[in-house]
Formats: sequence, structure tokens, C-alpha cells
Amino acid sequence: MNNVFKLLDRLEAEHCLTLDEYEALINGLSKETADYAAKKAVKARQAVYGNDVYIRGLIEISNICKNDCYYCGIRNSNKKCERYRLTKEDILDSAAEGYSLGFRTFVLQGGEDAKFTDTFLVDVIKNLKALYPECAITLSLGERSKESYKALRDAGADRYLLRHETADKEHYEKLHPQNMSFENRMECLKNLKDLGYQVGCGFMVGSPFQTSRTLAKDLKFIEEFAPAMCGIGPYLTHKDTPFSNMPSGSLELTLYLLSIIRLIDPTLLLPATTALGTIHPKGREMGILAGANVVMPNLSPISVRKKYELYDNKICTGDEAAECKVCLTKRIESVGYKIVTARGDRLTNSNSE
Ligand code: 5AD
Ligand code: FES
Repeated sequence: MNNVFKLLDRLEAEHCLTLDEYEALINGLSKETADYAAKKAVKARQAVYGNDVYIRGLIEISNICKNDCYYCGIRNSNKKCERYRLTKEDILDSAAEGYSLGFRTFVLQGGEDAKFTDTFLVDVIKNLKALYPECAITLSLGERSKESYKALRDAGADRYLLRHETADKEHYEKLHPQNMSFENRMECLKNLKDLGYQVGCGFMVGSPFQTSRTLAKDLKFIEEFAPAMCGIGPYLTHKDTPFSNMPSGSLELTLYLLSIIRLIDPTLLLPATTALGTIHPKGREMGILAGANVVMPNLSPISVRKKYELYDNKICTGDEAAECKVCLTKRIESVGYKIVTARGDRLTNSNSE
């Protein structure tokens, strides 16, 4: 019999389990097992990062996207989505504001927008690197060719976020139209790693057709791929997508998975995401208490924030949003942690080996 507490003990000690064991762990979610996992996750994170929480300034540079992922509010077919693209000047202005607020990582995130050529992006990255040499640049711009990833890396990009979305091919095909392929997604992640990026993968918790088996595969994938970062948050319904009648994911399962992922790799950079803050007013604080160690306040110009609506009711899109850094700093401190102004690269820890 697989005792869930014993599995958590083993995961803490060995940082790996079999696929069946991961599945049993997921099926074993209860208040007691979640508390037990969170306690171990906090201890594991503490050993590497102490009470430090890293911040990243998120700049949403375009909501124009050629893709049609069934879950996403900025999918190409959503004609109700009002499209925008920031100019180079807009991006540099957002970064300048972020820098003065203390951000030392900028995350440029956007849809797969054909106007973001290598020439354009290389110019932006080089400008940012020249102005702020001590800052890290993270890109989150979807699937591109290996040559393109190389050009952006050579220009100075340090990190790349590309959620794998699901590690199960059949599940992947239920979430995406036929012209998107699971194999290409995986190939992109591999290419990014080969090029020396610090790579982030990730998935939505409670996405339509997800099962404990597909989630177990996500965990196994994270264990084997060994990313530097992993973004997970609940799937949240968007009213103007084909999945508009599919229920959102759960807070409890997201928190439990954050703890489990922390135990798989104590050194991971693991954000408490905006989706987590959207599903519950204290979601991001709860995420930190479950083992996360990164938050990503929004730095996008206020005028475009409402338009980058991946899901309904996204937080930080109103007038209050100018103060995201202040707001998040207070929130993190309220649960006993400390925001650090640093690049926030992944640390390694001999205790975790
Ligand atoms: N709910 C939650 N997360 C979403 N994403 C896209 N649409 C949604 C949604 N409806 C996530 C995807 C994508 C990332 C940028 O946002 O995982 O990779
Ligand atoms: Fe954006 Fe609180 S973090 S308003």
C-alpha cells in the first residue's frame, strides 16, 4: 500500500518517485497531506533561499497571437479581444520605471506576434542590457526556431519561460488545435536548454481533460527535465473561448502541487502566479506558504493591462495596479517573508543533494 505520508518522506529524501507513485500522491490530497507536504516544502526552500522571495517585473509586450489555444483569452479567434503591441520606447519606459522601483529582472511576455522579428527583439534586448547590465532578461514569447532562440540569447537574454502545458501528448492535443504540436513544444524546451538559457516550463492545474495520470506525467517531466523555473497556476475560465463552460482549477490542488514540485527540486525558482492571486484574494501568499519563492508584479503600462486577459477577472488590471510592487511587498511581508532586490538567479544547495 502506498501511504501518502511515506511517499512525501521519500520525495523529500530522494527528489524522485515513479509515475505510479506520483499519481498516488496526487490522488492522496487531503487537508492533512497538504499540510504535511507544505511543511516539508517550506523546510526545503528555507535551506536554499532562507526567507527570501524574488521579484520579477512583468511587461506584457503584445497580446497579438497567431495561436488558437482553446483555453486562452488572447487566442487568435477571439474577436472581442482588443489587440495591442508595445513599441520599443514603451518597453524601455516600462523597464526604466521598473528599474527605479528596484526590479533587477525584466520578463518580456507576449503572444506569438509576427511583428516581433529577431531584429526587433535583438535591438530591445541589447538596449536593455546596455542600460541595465546587472539585470536579467527573461523572455516568454512562445515557440520560435532554434536560430531565433540563439539570436536572442546572443543578444543577452538570460532566461526563457515556455510552459509545456501538459506532458501528455493526447492531453496536449485536446488543449490545442491541430497545427500545434506536442513534439515541437518539447523540442523548443530542449533547444532553449541547449542554448544555455535558464529555462522555465509549467502547466495549468485543472485544465480541461487533465487527470491525475497526466499530472503525474507533468511531475515526472519536471523531475527529468530539471528546469530552473516552473510556472504553475490554476486554469481559469475565459468567457470568450471554446472552453467557456469548463470549470476552473482548484486552489487546494495548486498549492499541494507547488509543495510537491518544491520537494522534487528544492532549488527551483517557483512563482506564486497571478492566476493563483485571481482564484483567491490571498492566493499568492498561500503559494509562498506552500513552497513558492518568486512573485511577478505587473509592470505593463496601465492602459494595456486589461487587454492582456488570458482568463476572466485577472487581478492587477485596474487603477490599483500602479502599485503592484508595493502591494506585493506588503503581502509577502504579511506572511513573514522578505522581498529581495536582486537578479535572483537559481541558487544551488549542497543540503539538497
Ligand atoms: N487560465 C490560466 N492560465 C492560462 N494561461 C493561458 N490561458 C489561461 C487560462 N485560461 C497560461 C498558459 C500560458 C501562460 C502564458 O498563461 O499556461 O502558457
Ligand atoms: Fe498588483 Fe496587488 S499585486 S495590485
